[in-house]
Amino acid sequence: MSKKLFIKTWGCQMNVYDSARMADVLAPLGYRPVDEPDGADMVILNTCHIREKASEKVFSELGRLRQLKDIKAEAGDGRMIVAVAGCVAQAEGEEIVARAPYVDIVFGPQTYHTLPEMVAKASRRAGSVLNTDFPVESKFDFLPDESAAQGVAAFLAVQEGCDKFCTFCVVPYTRGAEFSRTGAQILAEARRLVAGGTREINLLGQNVNAWHGDGPDGATWGLGRLVRELAEIDGLERIRYTTSHPRDMDDDLIRAHAEVPQLMPYLHLPVQAGSDRVLAAMNRKHTADDYRRIVDRLRAAKPDLALSGDFIVGFPGESDADFAETLRLVTDVGYAQAYSFKYSPRPGTPAALETAQVPEDVKDARLAALQQLLNAQQQAFNQSFVGQTVPVLFDRVGKRGGQLLGKSPYMQSVHAEANDRLLGRIVEVRIDAAHPNSLAGTVATGEYTSSPTGQIGRNGTQTLEATV
Ligand code: SAH
Ligand code: SF4
Ligand code: F3S
Repeated sequence: MSKKLFIKTWGCQMNVYDSARMADVLAPLGYRPVDEPDGADMVILNTCHIREKASEKVFSELGRLRQLKDIKAEAGDGRMIVAVAGCVAQAEGEEIVARAPYVDIVFGPQTYHTLPEMVAKASRRAGSVLNTDFPVESKFDFLPDESAAQGVAAFLAVQEGCDKFCTFCVVPYTRGAEFSRTGAQILAEARRLVAGGTREINLLGQNVNAWHGDGPDGATWGLGRLVRELAEIDGLERIRYTTSHPRDMDDDLIRAHAEVPQLMPYLHLPVQAGSDRVLAAMNRKHTADDYRRIVDRLRAAKPDLALSGDFIVGFPGESDADFAETLRLVTDVGYAQAYSFKYSPRPGTPAALETAQVPEDVKDARLAALQQLLNAQQQAFNQSFVGQTVPVLFDRVGKRGGQLLGKSPYMQSVHAEANDRLLGRIVEVRIDAAHPNSLAGTVATGEYTSSPTGQIGRNGTQTLEATV
């Protein structure tokens, strides 16, 4: 009999990927994903521990689930298994069990391949099942193949964990040590995705460019080599990778940007701060000029490459002069898009123990100044596309009838009126308007650059009007 599974996901793309794989693990047990927690047989909260706000959400959500669990039991509709997964589970598993004893299962990011056993255990007895070990085996060796269709644009985890230990960050503790999947495993998964209709693959890792592995040819591959091998897969039209660390940006990967047409000209390369003093205190192991030089080399290889970044303001000890260096770096580099955050002290990380914490109002002011600059850069970047024609991979049907949504090479959301038949295709779209978070365009007649079979497709029957 089919059972209802509701998964709520916070945090990074790796968590989104993990949630999809949890559903794959539970499918043989009869669990089918549903869109709301009411009446579900199992609810998983896949959590994020990166900043205080992200963590707090778990406990407020759990309060709500407890009520739903009681309602289901009182209605004689069976038991709702409540599980907490992800990075909060890893970091605060015992606290969750103590504070919310109605939680049935708590498990970290490296143990979800054992979900069937955990569910069986939880069904047999009262009390919480806690599994936050870092097992010696890799979950990737035990996960079932992903369910057939993962969508036109799919994630593929190639690397996980982090050995960098930036002093502000919980990831090395919640995800564990750096681990790379084998080239053979990744290529097999990529081929299955493409056979299921995927046209764009985003290779995921907490430090994705630290990926290395033994290739099927016996040689040690780096990410550049992996990208070249993936580019050989027929029907795979776009490749991306995220998130990269500046220190792992090697020559071969930079060359791949020049040589592999499927590799998109858009790179998320966080720098966090522009002051060398702050970068050293963050243990980033590179200077602001090191970063500038990497960007120069990338742009020499791929002149139309655009960058995205992450920034932290108000790191302990950050002075006005330090912050001015961040603004200067942003001005020098020029970002198409970026995420910026106020520093959030995290339990167990070295920076949280620093006495020179920056006052909240100073953090607020710096964040506002930085975001103003970044937003202006993003708007200018988006505006520069108006009147241009860009290849868009349509990956979703829009909310309004007759409209498709897709992504430009630069990850901009583009919407245009288009026939459903263009779903999964890369289509030339003329950009008519730039909005803060999306572009609106018109399908350029007869200029489809590809079709699902990789041949040049041509429609040529209609010119479709742009919509917002
Ligand atoms: N592995 C990636 C990203 C990790 S987390 C990297 O090395 O860049 C994503 C982003 O969250 C980070 O890039 C950082 O900007 C932000 N972040 C991490 N810890 C934080 C903290 N304690 N306070 C505020 N922002 C934080
Ligand atoms: Fe966190 Fe730094 Fe590792 Fe990124 S490189 S995951 S910011 S410790
Ligand atoms: Fe959050 Fe864990 Fe990702 S802390 S950002 S879900 S690695």
